[in-house]
Order: sequence, then C-alpha cells, then structure tokens
Amino acid sequence: MQISLKPCKDVTTVSTDCLVLIVDHALSADIAKAADSACGGAITEIIKRGDFKGKLAETLYLPAVSGLKAPRLLIVGKGDNADLKDSDFDKIINAAINTTASAGCKDISIMLDNINVTDRKITWQYQRVAQLITTSSYRYTATVSKPKPALSIRRLTLQGANTDANRQAVHAGASIGKGINIACDLGDLPGNICTPNYLASESRALGRKYDSVSVSVLDEKKMAELGMHSLLSVTAGTDQPARLIVIEYKGGKKADKPHVLVGKGVTFDTGGISLKPGAKMDEMKYDMCGAASVVGTLSAVAEMDLKLNVVGIIAAAENMPSGSATKPGDVVTSMSGQTIEILNTDAEGRLVLCDALTYAGKFKPASVIDIATLTGACVVALGKHAAGLFSNDDDFAAELLEQGKLAQDRAWHMPLWDDYQNQLDSNFADMANIGGPEAGSVTAACFLSRFTKDYRWAHLDIAGAAWNGGGNKGATGRPVGLLCQYLASKAGN
Ligand code: BES
Ligand code: MN
Ligand code: ZN
Repeated sequence: MQISLKPCKDVTTVSTDCLVLIVDHALSADIAKAADSACGGAITEIIKRGDFKGKLAETLYLPAVSGLKAPRLLIVGKGDNADLKDSDFDKIINAAINTTASAGCKDISIMLDNINVTDRKITWQYQRVAQLITTSSYRYTATVSKPKPALSIRRLTLQGANTDANRQAVHAGASIGKGINIACDLGDLPGNICTPNYLASESRALGRKYDSVSVSVLDEKKMAELGMHSLLSVTAGTDQPARLIVIEYKGGKKADKPHVLVGKGVTFDTGGISLKPGAKMDEMKYDMCGAASVVGTLSAVAEMDLKLNVVGIIAAAENMPSGSATKPGDVVTSMSGQTIEILNTDAEGRLVLCDALTYAGKFKPASVIDIATLTGACVVALGKHAAGLFSNDDDFAAELLEQGKLAQDRAWHMPLWDDYQNQLDSNFADMANIGGPEAGSVTAACFLSRFTKDYRWAHLDIAGAAWNGGGNKGATGRPVGLLCQYLASKAGN
C-alpha cells in the first residue's frame, strides 16, 4: 500500500481513480460546493431527489461523473453533527474503503479538510486512515487453497500538506496497521502450525529484519535452571516444547529503563486434565493472542523507530492432558519462590505468566504490561468491546485508558482490591491458582499481582477483545493499537 499526502487547491483537478468526498446534507463544505458546481449540480440534484441523505457513513458511488478530473466519485455522509466522534470518523473511513474496494478501485484520494474530530488533531486523522487502510488489506492465506482476493486499492492519497509531522503520522498509522496484521496472522494460524517454536522463529525473524531488535529464546532446561516450575507445569502434558522468548528493542539511550510487555502464548488451551468442553474449543488456538500482540507491537515500534527501549517477553506453551500432565492438587514452586496449589489446570495462563513476570523484574523496567486471554469471566463482564485493565498504579491505569481511547482500542479499569485476595487462600501452598466462581477476572489479576510488587504494572485481559467468534471468526489484532499508542507517547511522539 502506497499512502501519500498531497495538498489540494482545487478539488476538480485531483487526479485519481476515485475521488472521495465526505459531505453533509447541505453540502456546507467549500470542496463539496466546488465539486458539485464542477459537475453541473449533480450532487445537489441527487440530494434533492432523496437519493442521498448525508447520514453518517452513508455512501453513494458514482462510477461516471463529468466535470471533474477524477472519473469516479464517492460521496460519504458525514451525519448532522459538525464535529465527529472518533468512532464516527472510523465508520466514515471504513465505508469509503469498503465501497471503493468492492468497486475495484486501485487508486483513491480522500479529501479530509472539512472534517473535524472532537479533541483530535489533523495528524490523528492521517494516522487513523493509514492504519485503517493497512488493516483492511489483511487476508488470511496460510492454509486456504483459494484465499479471498487482495484489496484492490493499491494507492491512497490524502489531501493534506506534505510536512514532516503529517508524514510521520501516516508512517505511524501504517506501521501500527502492519503490527496489527502480524498479530492477526499469528492468532488466526491453527495450533498445529503456530506452536511455541513457531512463535520463537517468527520473533527471531523480527530480530533479523531490524538492527534495533535482538531476540533470545530460553528452552525448558534453562527455564528449569531459573526455577520456572509454574510455567513448566503447564507444558508437562504436551510433546511441544515450551519457550520463553525475549525480544529486545533498543531505540533509546543505553541506560533508559525499558518498558516491558509480557504476552500469554498458550498456543492451544485444552484445559489440560481439567479438560474444557468440546464446543468452540477450536477457538483456544487464540489463547496466544497476548503473545501475538507483543510480536506485532515490537514490529511496529521498530518500524516507527521509537526513541525508547522496549522488551517483549513471551511465555509460550501448549496446555494438553496426558499421562505426564499436571493434575489438580499438584503443588509447584514458582521462580519467585512462592508455592502454588494447582486446583484447576485450565487456569494455566496465570501459571505461565507469573514466572515470565518474575523474569521481567530482571530488566529493572520502567513499566510492565502483561497481555493475556486470561479469563472467560472477563468476556462475561465486558464482552468484546473493552479489554479488562488491572494495575497496581492508578496513574498508570489512567494513562493506558487514555491511550486506548486515542487508539480506538479501549480498555476498562477493573478493581484490584485487597478484599479479593483471600479467595486465593490454600491449605497446602502459598496460594491456589483459582479463586472460585465470583469475580474470576479480578482473582486472576490478584494472582498475578503477587508477582509484580517490584514495579509499575498493568494487566490487560483480552479474552473478549482478541478475536471475533461466529461466522466472521478471526483475530482482531488487539491491543496492538493501544500498546503502540502508549509506547509512542512515552517516546515523545
Ligand atoms: N484461555 C482461557 C480463558 C478464555 C476462555 C479466554 C474463553 C477466552 C474465551 C483460560 O486459560 C481459562 O481457561 N480460564 C478459566 C479459568 C478458570 C478455570 C478459573 C476460565 O475462564 O474458565
Ligand atoms: Mn485455560
Ligand atoms: Zn488459557
């Protein structure tokens, strides 16, 4: 996808396959009036006859127009409000992309100069369009004989000044979009392909692609030496070896403390001996979407060349039942030294994460965010629209909520009160790995909080946000958008 910026003095002379105008019912913007009079009042006539009402994201595609240099025109409704909400802007841009793509357009130009989004700068709009066109081009191809045809659009021109700041915004959007697509691809791959070793090799590929990225992979022997017996308890029943993948991005000064991302990489979650029911179990291939978001984010961060240091840690393992699998009631010692009674082998995410979180402490981090498809309870609480956000620092939580709004990749602050902690009491270990039926996403976070006392930490439960089920089954690439926006803000972008 080639995305460029071009100032536009006269809308009638824009050279493109399809000109996209975002208009209201009254054609109040000057460019809308200019285009209308150049094509002999055709748009006014269409509106007068009631064929276009200017409703939000309503489209009318005119494959033949005269009077404009562009042979085709798409008008997209702006709705009645002078200022748009973030989500309105997305609806308009997605409508423009989808309509021109179904018409087979290869080159489109979108006029944005009459659009105001509340509290957002114009660079936000450029970044957003670049991200949306990039994610629109995502196709899953790995295991289908006849994949969906590629997006017809190859070139997108945004009418706007070709300045450094604007170009940087476009580049950021495209980089984040690519990161999201990487996360989608890893998520959508089946569990027999996307194994812990596969995640390791994809991470290593990132290290080869960018000089700023280096990757190391710890095998089970090394993890045992470090005392990661909680993580290793999850992999006990499978033939796939577990991996702890460490991706280091150095874009800041050597002494700058890194921001650490820790991803749950359970490449398939059967539940283990606490076996899951059969319905929708295939969707547990998505149980590595936290890990996928770490890979996608690191890729985008490297692509954007952010001036800070980031470490991605992926706890990759498969959760299977077998004669060697961990059993309910087994007690293990985590790397932190704390013992855990495993009452349910299906609460495995926290078991792999706790050791990865202890390992994260080695980097003397500025902040640590773990990302995990951790609990069905989070899906019950928030559905697919928001990730559950838990943190031991309210200011940090507030910052992430804000960046999530900017990125249109939202989280919602959940409680991490001490009141919930005793649900994890055990008679036989320092803690149990489950906290009973009440507030399941909170007690899961409480469990993790016992391993994150030494640093500023946030936990994102993406069980609902990471993929869509049903007929349109597929990964969403979330929360790459939120994470990139947060890291870009930390880098001063
Ligand atoms: N990966 C699942 C959580 C999950 C379930 C995510 C459904 C998305 C959709 C996790 O490992 C799990 O099985 N959690 C259990 C915890 C329970 C045993 C305390 C759950 O949520 O049922
Ligand atoms: Mn599970
Ligand atoms: Zn799981």
